[in-house]
Amino acid sequence: MSSSSSSSSPNPLGSLPQLPTVEGSNPQRAAVDAFKIAVAVQVAAVIGKDVKDVYLGIDTGKVNLGTKIDLSIAVARFRLGGKPAEWADKVAAAFVANEYISTVTSANGLLMFQVNHANFAKAVLGQIHSYPSPTSDIPGYDSNAYGCNPVVGKGKKVIVEFSSPNIAKPFHAGHLRSTIIGAFTANLYETFGWEVIRMNYLGDWGKQFGLLAVGFKRHGSEEALTADAIKHLFDVYVKVNQDMEAEKLAGSQETEDEARLFFKNLEEGDATSHALWSRFRDLSIERYKETYARLNIHYDVYSGESQVATKSMTEAISTLQEMGVVGEKDGALIADLTKYKLEKTVVRKKDGTTIYITRDIGAAKERYAKYKFDKMIYVVASQQNLHLAQFFKVLELMGYEWAKDGRLEHINFGMVTGMSTRRGTVKFLNDILEAAAETMMEQMRRNEAKFALIENPERCADVLGMSAVKIQDMGAKRHLDYTFDLKKMTAFEGDTGVYLQYAHVRLASVQRKNPNIVMPEDISLVKTELLVEDKAHDIVYLLSLYPDVVSTAYKTNEPSAIVTFAFKLAHAISSAWDGLRVQNVEVELGTARLYLFISARDVLATALKLLTLEPLDRM
Ligand code: ARG
Repeated sequence: MSSSSSSSSPNPLGSLPQLPTVEGSNPQRAAVDAFKIAVAVQVAAVIGKDVKDVYLGIDTGKVNLGTKIDLSIAVARFRLGGKPAEWADKVAAAFVANEYISTVTSANGLLMFQVNHANFAKAVLGQIHSYPSPTSDIPGYDSNAYGCNPVVGKGKKVIVEFSSPNIAKPFHAGHLRSTIIGAFTANLYETFGWEVIRMNYLGDWGKQFGLLAVGFKRHGSEEALTADAIKHLFDVYVKVNQDMEAEKLAGSQETEDEARLFFKNLEEGDATSHALWSRFRDLSIERYKETYARLNIHYDVYSGESQVATKSMTEAISTLQEMGVVGEKDGALIADLTKYKLEKTVVRKKDGTTIYITRDIGAAKERYAKYKFDKMIYVVASQQNLHLAQFFKVLELMGYEWAKDGRLEHINFGMVTGMSTRRGTVKFLNDILEAAAETMMEQMRRNEAKFALIENPERCADVLGMSAVKIQDMGAKRHLDYTFDLKKMTAFEGDTGVYLQYAHVRLASVQRKNPNIVMPEDISLVKTELLVEDKAHDIVYLLSLYPDVVSTAYKTNEPSAIVTFAFKLAHAISSAWDGLRVQNVEVELGTARLYLFISARDVLATALKLLTLEPLDRM
C-alpha cells in the first residue's frame, strides 16, 4: 500500500450521500467533519439555527454516560429559551438515522450521536491512505501526510529560530528545550504549507571571545580543538577564568587587559584575531551539526550574534533616536518602555558598545531584508520573556510593519531541573544524548532474551534514548517546568517515548508476521464493515481525530497535543490486540483488521515524525 501514489485523492467518503458545504469544516482533510455536518443539518432544522452554528457546537471525544458516544451537543449552548432538556428530546425524536449517523439519544439537555461504524471506518481509513504515500525519507517530514493542511500557509514564509547555544559555554536545559520544541514547530509549520527557514542564532560574540582567545594561546591544543571544539573551548574558557580569578587576588589584571585588546581588535576587523575567532566558530558549528543530525535536526542557516553588521545596528540606533524611542542617560542610550509595562532597557552602553538586544534588533532587520518573512518565531526559554517583549516592542515602535500584529512570535517554555547524570551535571548536548543512550542500553539489557534478538543494539538504544528525551520534554504543556529524570524517561512502561516506539514496532510487525494477507490494490474493497468490535471502533475514532489534533497543536504551539494523542492511540491499540486477531481468522476479517493496524501504524508514524522522532520498525 505504501507504494500507491495517486496525484488526485479519491473521495474518501466514497458513495456516501452528498452534504452541504459548511464553513469551518473540511471533510476532504478530516472525514469526521462529514459526520458532524450530517448531525448539524438535522439538528439545525429542528432548533431553527444555522447549520454552521450547530456544526461549531458539536463536541468530539467520548462522553461517559454509559453509552458509547461519538459526537455530542450540549443544547444549552444555543440559548434557545425554554428548557434545554425539552429541546434535546425534541431533536432526538425528530432525528432520522441515516448512512452517517445510526443512533441519537438525549439526556438532560445533552444530545449524543453514534456514527455508522462501517461507513465511518471506510471513510476514515480510506482517507488516511488517500493521501500521497509517505516518502519515508527519514529524517525529514512528509508534509503530504494525513493531518496536514498545506493550504493554510501556502506561499508564506516563516523563520523559526531555535536552539541558539553559546560558543564556549555550556549547552543548558534552556537550549535543549529550544532545540526540541523548535524542531517540532518547524515541522508543524511545514505541515501547514509554510516555507520554513530553520535558523540557529549562535551566541558567538562578546567580550568572552577575547578571553577565550587568550586562554587558547595559553591552554589550548590544536588537536583537542579539531577533535571536539565544543568541549575544548569550554575547558579553555574555564581555565582562563581561573587564571583571571587568581590574578585578581594577586592584584593584577594582565589576562583581562589582553582579552580586552583581542576583542577590540576583533571588533575593528583585525585579520589575525578574526581568523582565530572564525576557526572557533566554524569548528563548533561542525561539531554541533553532527549532534543535531543525531536528533534528526538540520538547519538552513547558522547565523549568530557575530553576523549582525555594525551598520545595521548603528542605523537602528539612529532610527530609535530620530523617532524618540530612546533617550540618553550618562552616555548610555535607553528605551523607556514603562508605558507598556516593559521597564527600561539599554540599547547602547556608555562605552558605545552594543549589547544582546541591539544585536537582536539589527539581526531582525537584516532577516526581514533578506527573507521578507511573513512571520518569525523565536523559541526561547521563559526566562527571556522580558527581553523578547522589549525587543519586539522596540521594533514595533520603530514602525516596522513586519514587527506588528503578532508577526513576531515568542514561543517560550518552562525550566528543567536536575539535568545531571552519574558523572555530574551535563554540560553539552552530546553528553545528554550519550547519557540517554547509555541508560537506555541498561534498560534493554535487563531482558537478556530479548536483547539477544536486537540486530543493532547501539543504534536502537540511541534512537530510543533520543525518543525518551524528546517525549519527556514535549509531553506536558510548554510553560510547565519538569525534572530531568533519565530513569523514568527511558522506562518501557508508563507514558514514555520508549513506550510509543514499542507501540509502533508492534504495529509494524503485524504486517511482517502476516505475509499471506495481501492488501487489495483498491483499498476501498477491504470489508471495513467487519470491524464491529468496540475496540476496533475506538481506534478508528481516535484516528479520525488526528487532523483536529494537529490543528490544535498549530493554534496553540503545543507539542503536547500531539504527544497526548499518540499515547491515547498507543493505549487503545495495546488493549485491542487480544480481541482483534489477524491470524487464524477468516481471511476477509484478517484483512480488515490488518488494514486497521496498518492505518494506526501510519498515523502513529506520522505523529512521531511530526514530533521529530524516527519511528522504529524493530527493537
Ligand atoms: N544564545 C542565547 C542564550 O543562550 C539565546 C538566543 C535566543 N535568541 C535570540 N534571538 N535572542 O541565552
